[in-house]
Amino acid sequence: MRVLITGITGFVGSYLAEYFLENYPKNKIYGTLRWRSRLENIEHIKRKINLIECDLKDANSVSKMIEEVVPDYIFHLAAQSFVPTSWHAPTDTLTTNIVSQINIFEAVKKIDNHTKIQIAGSSEEYGLVLENELPIKETNPLRPLSPYGVSKVAQDLLGYQYFMSYKMSIVRTRAFNHTGPRRGEVFVESNFARQIVEIEKGYQEPIIKVGNLEAKRDYTDVRDIVRAYHLALEKGESGEIYNICSGKAYKINEVLELLLSHTKIKIKIQEDPDRFRPSDVPVLLGDNSKFKKKTKWTATINFEQTLKDILAYWRKIL
Ligand code: GDD
Repeated sequence: MRVLITGITGFVGSYLAEYFLENYPKNKIYGTLRWRSRLENIEHIKRKINLIECDLKDANSVSKMIEEVVPDYIFHLAAQSFVPTSWHAPTDTLTTNIVSQINIFEAVKKIDNHTKIQIAGSSEEYGLVLENELPIKETNPLRPLSPYGVSKVAQDLLGYQYFMSYKMSIVRTRAFNHTGPRRGEVFVESNFARQIVEIEKGYQEPIIKVGNLEAKRDYTDVRDIVRAYHLALEKGESGEIYNICSGKAYKINEVLELLLSHTKIKIKIQEDPDRFRPSDVPVLLGDNSKFKKKTKWTATINFEQTLKDILAYWRKIL
């Protein structure tokens, strides 16, 4: 099998590559990167994968890359994925996320083969969810609250449209929050863990900066998520949408308390106005029954363990 991972140098992409190398060593793994991509997430596996320079926003570049790889599977993970950046750079977020995906679809359409494509949608597509709509099913109305959420709705609907128009094999996943060691430092759980470790090492005074602690998020370990993405292509139906989540939500305040329970230092909590958003999604709690029924997937790593692993990661590298 020829497996193409866009965003292979990123957080989820690097775990997906590791997963294939470990469990399916006969597969050929390809990944796209830009000339300025940072390689630290894949330094340990880069000799075992095939890296191709490609700018996904450039149709010509994507077309050449797809003709060269002729992939059986494409996991399309490359994206501008940080919600606050989408307010600072809405045009870039929408262009990067939507145009890149159109270029991939058009390039695959041209080679006219059997390629199956997973597109990484997000629970941010649901945006504002009413109390009586919880836990969120795939059929819930989409009320995105950020340019990022809108970009993911567009990707998702383009997946539907290319499936309907051209019968392309496209599976639409909507992952809820996922994390683990190597998670980018801007995301809340990784950011709080990093701040705690900086305080432990004396690099920061014992004050942790926080934003909105009232929001609730449904977390899954990234190592369970990449297994789910593979199952989505193996067993999922083309054109369909699948929520991927644990079915349990934590208040961000609880995430903070759990992290703080693993340090001996007394740390003060301080609100930082810059960390609040123009509109924040108040609660994301998913219903994963459709995906579980189709694939038999279950999450295996509990969230407390994941948080401990993230702390251990920062303690090791800082
Ligand atoms: N980043 C950040 N930093 N968020 C904070 C902070 C802080 O200091 N303090 C509180 N929060 C709150 C945010 O306001 C939000 O309600 C919640 O913590 C989670 O924020 P993020 O970790 O930035 O993730 P996200 O939920 O906005 O988006 C992530 O999950 C999506 C799936 O639901 C990203 O990974 C997206 O790419 C992904 O699609």
